[in-house]
Amino acid sequence: MSIEKSYDQWSSQYDTNKNRTRDMDHLVTKKILQNLEFKSVLELGCGTGKNTKWLQTRTSKILAVDFSEEMLKLAKNKINNPEVIFYKADITKPWNWTEENFELITCNLILEHIEDLRFIFNQTFAKLESGGYFFISELHPFKQYVGSKARFDSENGEVELETFTHHISEFLDAAQSAGFQLHKFNEYFDEEEGKPPRILSLLFEKP
Ligand SMILES: C[S@@+](CC[C@H](N)C(=O)[O-])C[C@H]1O[C@@H](n2cnc3c(N)ncnc32)[C@H](O)[C@@H]1O
Repeated sequence: MSIEKSYDQWSSQYDTNKNRTRDMDHLVTKKILQNLEFKSVLELGCGTGKNTKWLQTRTSKILAVDFSEEMLKLAKNKINNPEVIFYKADITKPWNWTEENFELITCNLILEHIEDLRFIFNQTFAKLESGGYFFISELHPFKQYVGSKARFDSENGEVELETFTHHISEFLDAAQSAGFQLHKFNEYFDEEEGKPPRILSLLFEKP
């Protein structure tokens, strides 16, 4: 099944299933972004709007993009704000759906589904204002090395989504070659000791 169709199917349970990665990502996003100022946000892979809901309290304008119709439907039901625009697009294709530049671009739990990181970093760089930030919060590659990936239970058994493993060096190389400067690098762990970190977060700045 395609990634898009898998998320359509996952959408009805996405907000309610036990999902420690989803919950940690939300905490990390608030922690890292709470002290930054940004007037406009492009959110890549907004899903059901879990982070959009918080971001709208911190900015005056959001363009939230996702390619799953069903995930977007839930996000739209959650958020009734004329300053938040939802748009269906595949971010692996040229970003000709906006003429605007943004002060912050966010990417939460989506890059494991994207093969070509450089394309995303280059498009992001082009759509950011100078001095703008690119925030990434993703399933940590160390977790992927031991088998973690996006998956959910369905009536027909477990559905595993297509994923790509990006090493930390790949994130840093793609960022550097696009022109970004690294601002913050953090790793977040579960409470149990001896486990690999669950979330990798990176904050880049466009000089
Ligand atoms: C794990 S969910 C994360 C949703 C949200 N960012 C969050 O943190 O809860 C991944 C989302 O990325 C979207 N997605 C995956 N690949 C995409 C692509 N190429 N273009 C647009 N959206 C994509 C999926 O439809 C899904 O809604």
